[in-house]
Amino acid sequence: MRLLVTGGAGFIGSEFVRMTLRDHPEDSVIVLDKLTYAGNERNLESVRDNGRFRFVRGDICDAATVNELANESDVIVNFAAESHVDRSLEAPGQFILTDVYGTFVLMDAARTHKHERFLQVSTDEVYGEVSSGHSVEDDPLQPRSPYSASKAGGELLVQAYRTSYGFPAIVTRGSNTFGPYQYPEKIIPLFITNAIDDRPLPIYGDGGAVRDYLHVEDHARGIDRALRDGVVGIDYNIGAGGETSGITVADTVLRLLGKPDSLKQFVRDRPGHDRRYAVDSARLRGIGWQPQIAFEEGMQRTVAWFVAHEDWWRPLKSGEFWEFYQRNYKPAESGIAP
Ligand code: NAD
Ligand code: DAU
Repeated sequence: MRLLVTGGAGFIGSEFVRMTLRDHPEDSVIVLDKLTYAGNERNLESVRDNGRFRFVRGDICDAATVNELANESDVIVNFAAESHVDRSLEAPGQFILTDVYGTFVLMDAARTHKHERFLQVSTDEVYGEVSSGHSVEDDPLQPRSPYSASKAGGELLVQAYRTSYGFPAIVTRGSNTFGPYQYPEKIIPLFITNAIDDRPLPIYGDGGAVRDYLHVEDHARGIDRALRDGVVGIDYNIGAGGETSGITVADTVLRLLGKPDSLKQFVRDRPGHDRRYAVDSARLRGIGWQPQIAFEEGMQRTVAWFVAHEDWWRPLKSGEFWEFYQRNYKPAESGIAP
C-alpha cells in the first residue's frame, strides 16, 4: 500500500509511521503535516532517510496539496487534528477548521482518486461522559467539549459519505494515549516533565476523573489492525480497559521519579470536565488485536524515555507553552484538597 498519513508528525501519527515502515516492508508512506505547535519533524528523525518515506509540510484544508498527494496514494490515514481539550475551550475555531473541514477535504480527494480505504482516527470522547458501563460502537455520539464536538463533526461527515457515496471508510475511536513523543500539554508528559523539574503537578478539581490510558504502541497497532483487517463501513473502539484517576497518574509519576507527594497541587477544574470515558473494545479484539502494554509497564517506559530525552521536550516547554499554561491553570475554587 501507498499510505498518505496526515498529521504523521504528531504523537500517535509518528508512532504509526515508524511502525508501518518497520513492519510492512512493501508499503510506502507520505506524511502530510502542517507542523502546528504540536507537530515536530524530530518525531520522524528515525525514518527520515528511509527510501519509502517522504515528508510534505502542508495543511489538510488545502485541497490542491491534498489532491496532489492523494493521486500518489492508495489510502489515507487521518491523524491530523487539533487535539487538546483545554485549548479547544479557549479557541474552538481552529478545531472546527481542521477536525471537520479538513476531514471533508481529505475524503473528497480520496473519493476523486478512488481510494480503496480511508481511515479516520477518532476518539472515545465522541461518546461524551459515560457514568457507568462501557461505550459500544453503535452508541450515540454525545460530545461535550469543542474538541470532542469537532471530532464528532468529522465522524458525521464520514458517516454521510459512507451513506451517500458508498465511501470506504473505517473509523477508530481510541482512548487516552500515552508514551514517547507526546507533547507535554497532556497530563502524563506534563506531570512527568514538571516532576523532573520539581514543579507542581496541577490536578484538576478533586482528581477523581478517570481515563482509560492506552500505550501509543498499542493504539498504533490497533489502527493498523483496523486498516488492514477491518470491515469498511464499521467503527472500532480501541481501549486498554483500565480506569485511572488524575490522582493515580500523579502518584505513579511521583513514585517512579522518587519525588515528594507535596508536588501534587489541586487546581480549578476543567469546565465541563468529563468524569469518565470507558470503551468496549470487543469488536477490535474480534479481529485479532489486544493491548500488550499494561499501565504500570507503560508508565515505567514512558518516564524512562522522558528522563533520557530532555533534549526533545525542554525546547517545547518555553514561550507560548508557558503563556497558555498561565492562562489555563487557576487556583482551585474551594482550595480544599481531598
Ligand atoms: P497531536 O496533537 O500530537 O498531533 C496532531 C498532528 O496533526 C500534529 O503533527 C499537527 O502538526 C498536525 N496537524 C494539525 N492540524 C493540521 C492541519 N490542518 N493539517 C495538517 N496537519 C495538521 O495529536 P495526537 O495526540 O497524536 O492525536 C492524533 C489523532 O488521534 C487526533 O486525530 C486525535 O483526535 C486522535 N486521538 C488522540 C488521542 C490521545 O490521547 N492523544 C486519543 C484518541 C484519539
Ligand atoms: O480520550 C481520548 C482523548 O484523550 C483524546 O481524544 C485527546 O486528544 C487527548 O487530549 C485526551 O483528552 P483528555 O482531555 O482526556 O486528556 P488530558 O491529558 O488533557 O487529560 C486527562 C485527564 O487528566 C482529564 O481527566 C483531565 C486531567 N488533567 C489534565 C491536565 C492536562 C489534569 O488533572 N491536569 C492537567 O494538567
